[in-house]
Amino acid sequence: MGNFFWGAATSAHQVEGGNHNDWSEFEKTRGLEQSGRACDHYNRFREDFDIAKSLGHNAHRFSLEWSRIEPEEGKFDEREIQHYRDVIATLRERGLEPFVTLWHWTVPLWFRDCGGWTLKESPKYFSRYVEKVVSALGDPTSNGEVGSPLVKFWITLNETNVYTGHGYWKGDWPPGERSLVRYIVSNHHLSQAHIAAYKIIKSANPGSEIGIAHNMIYFTRVPARLKNYIYNHFFLHSIKKYQDFTGINYYFSDRDMKEKTDMGWSIDPDGFYHVLKDAARYKKPIYVTENGIADTKDEKRAAFIKDHVEAMQKAMREGTDVRGYFYWSLLDNFEWDKGFAPRFGLVEMDYETLERKVRPSAKEYQKIIENQSL
Ligand code: FCB
Repeated sequence: MGNFFWGAATSAHQVEGGNHNDWSEFEKTRGLEQSGRACDHYNRFREDFDIAKSLGHNAHRFSLEWSRIEPEEGKFDEREIQHYRDVIATLRERGLEPFVTLWHWTVPLWFRDCGGWTLKESPKYFSRYVEKVVSALGDPTSNGEVGSPLVKFWITLNETNVYTGHGYWKGDWPPGERSLVRYIVSNHHLSQAHIAAYKIIKSANPGSEIGIAHNMIYFTRVPARLKNYIYNHFFLHSIKKYQDFTGINYYFSDRDMKEKTDMGWSIDPDGFYHVLKDAARYKKPIYVTENGIADTKDEKRAAFIKDHVEAMQKAMREGTDVRGYFYWSLLDNFEWDKGFAPRFGLVEMDYETLERKVRPSAKEYQKIIENQSL
């Protein structure tokens, strides 16, 4: 298996349960399905990481819930910070390298109320949270040994392009706005927030590796070049001097493929190959921070993973420096405005009993991992 990282990803709001943030409020005001207790991963993370380990994973990507850590402006909850220290220690005890996302879309209510990402001070507010978290979880005196809280791999932001597109352009996600100006301004502030976070983490922990998780689509339809630039590269370009790796989330292309996921997304592994080759332009190591399929019947997932891993390895043979692959997601979870219906998990959730059941495709993924000599 070499040094390659194999694992799965989750995000706090989608699995933890019991969150009180801009999303939980939005679910209520828009009459959407509510995240509620979700997978109760907040209490069951040990069991979930046991499963990840039993499936041969050696890394795990998850996110911190800002609204838990800083529920009131400038007031940090030490118990919640301790919770995430426990999460990290639990991963390390199981030999899973933590990849920690600082912001996976949800924000504290106070941050929303003062203007969210359109506020000029938003990068400053984010920096204060990052400083606190990094000093608590990124202990520079430890070496990431078992039980240590040291985080080496930081993902500052998740899919700014998807988030701002929905939140500030289409208006179907929080904060529910439809404004070109606010769309542009929020993107600008997110870029500044990343750069500020990068500097904070680097100066606290020079050995850390920092990037974002960026959604990329393989565009083939006219004007493909323009779409590729705006959607896939504009944000990455704005932070390119401030990333140690490029994190790619890939789900689909714009080609009309015969095979679709339960979300109606085109299954196009060849598009993944092209996207990875294209992401190599930043001349940084690449981590596939998300790739996955909604497939309730678990009929297509094993082939989806196999075909995408093969496409990735084709790009690697041609010189693309990919160093890790995270399947989305470890567990079935709360898929934002789509609620609990889409089933992305390697592990099936019974939302009544919270029983976890490993899907057959998870074992196929395990075989892929175990057969690698990368
Ligand atoms: C990505 C998100 C992730 C999940 C998957 C299906 O865009 O980053 O949280 O919802 O899609």
